Amino acid sequence: MAEKLIIFDTTLRDGEQSPGASMTKDEKLRIARQLEKLRVDVIEAGFAASSNGDFEAVKAIAATIRDSTVCSLSRANDRDIARAAEALSGAKSSRIHTFIATSALHMEKKLRMTPEQVHEQARLAVRFARKFTDNVEFSPEDGSRSDIDFLCRVIEDVIKEGATTINFADTVGYAVPEMFGQLVRTLRERIPNSDKAVWSVHCHNDLGMAVANSLAGVTIGGARQIECTINGLGERAGNTSLEEVVMALKTRRDFFGLDVGIDTAQIVPTSKLVSGITGFAVQPNKAVVGANAFAHASGIHQDGVLKQRDTYEIMRAEDVGWSANKIVLGKLSGRNAFKQRVQELGIPVDSETELNAAFARFKDLADRKSDIFDEDIQALFSDESVTPESEHFKLVSLAQSSETGERPHAEVTLSIAGRESRKAASGNGPVDATLKAIEAQVDSGSELLLYSVNAITTGTESQGEVTVRLSRAGRIVNGVGADPDIIVASAKAYINALNKLQSNLERVNPQSGV
Ligand code: KIV
Ligand code: ZN
Repeated sequence: MAEKLIIFDTTLRDGEQSPGASMTKDEKLRIARQLEKLRVDVIEAGFAASSNGDFEAVKAIAATIRDSTVCSLSRANDRDIARAAEALSGAKSSRIHTFIATSALHMEKKLRMTPEQVHEQARLAVRFARKFTDNVEFSPEDGSRSDIDFLCRVIEDVIKEGATTINFADTVGYAVPEMFGQLVRTLRERIPNSDKAVWSVHCHNDLGMAVANSLAGVTIGGARQIECTINGLGERAGNTSLEEVVMALKTRRDFFGLDVGIDTAQIVPTSKLVSGITGFAVQPNKAVVGANAFAHASGIHQDGVLKQRDTYEIMRAEDVGWSANKIVLGKLSGRNAFKQRVQELGIPVDSETELNAAFARFKDLADRKSDIFDEDIQALFSDESVTPESEHFKLVSLAQSSETGERPHAEVTLSIAGRESRKAASGNGPVDATLKAIEAQVDSGSELLLYSVNAITTGTESQGEVTVRLSRAGRIVNGVGADPDIIVASAKAYINALNKLQSNLERVNPQSGV
């Protein structure tokens, strides 16, 4: 039997640190359930001590997930670690992940600590974490830019204190594959007790080498855990992308010789869920999960694939969860058919009330759109009315007019905390007029950072999925809305974002000092 490589997913922690990717507790829970279905070994659910919101999210995920280990990040201090342990107390299997920076630059300029203080704090943190669990991970932050002799001393001691995983971090995405792999190998060779821990790699994608560095950490360095995120979400340019690293290991098993426990058919549904919730669209040419990843446009390629698939395809689209745009339901479909398709698509539904609400939205959509595809059904569940925090602002109705030579005009009726309000505005275009009519009523004081529209399926009948990103007082939120009418989709997305601003979701960046 081949050795197993542990897949540690940090979409809900490092991924959430992408500006604008903040998620509510319910959204995190939905993603965690899908990650469990994807069969990731470890889910880093958040950073419990960073905010009450994150504490509650980690706690809810710990209480729900049964088949993956649930982990919380914590800085290397007793308060953070105790908070992580408390949030994880309901988990079937849990891990505390503690970290401290070890590079001279970070220790001196960011932490303002001497190397000796950092060394001692790392030891004490792992010792304290072991009081709560026998599954403790330690990360030397900015490891790839740290002094190797210092790293050897710190890592040897944290393993003595009981760290069971050593996660070597390329925090700023500075490493290059051969050097990074060699660094992990040297550490493992020089540290006398290195075999007492599982070695892991955590790479950032600033130079586009996160996947290559992670794989070098495995092949050259001997790491047996990779930390990664769905769609490569994460700080700045993101982290190692789960789908790429997993499909590389699977497709080139002849080369890597390692097994991963991932159910690859869940990759695309997970990617879509994460992209829908965060509002981070996946670029069309992204490996594995991009819309064009399996599209053959040139005649020569199409001809080859039709004659024999593997002429131009190294993976099968269906193996990673792509389904053809199938017409599954229509206007006459009943609740049972709808429920069955929702189950087949693996969409988690918490209650009959949630299903009924989604079915009502489905009927409304089917009245306006003759063919309902799987993608439409998935979009129904990322609709703004799913989450409870969306209750404050609601779209009641929207009338809009535009005509060549005339300035577009929109009138929007909202329900604000249960009371109806209506205002009209004009704008440069119909979307501009609509959002201005909303703002005239809510006066949110927010700044619009991003507005984008994507067609959910093909053809002009498709629903438009709109993403907006708003910022207010340092908080950034995304809103998503789908509708066959893109002006209505825009209003829904904007209201979705306003509701998120209204909720008390708060986040701090875990890596901003100890
Ligand atoms: O990039 C990093 O160093 C991290 C650590 C907390 C592992 O995310
Ligand atoms: Zn990171």
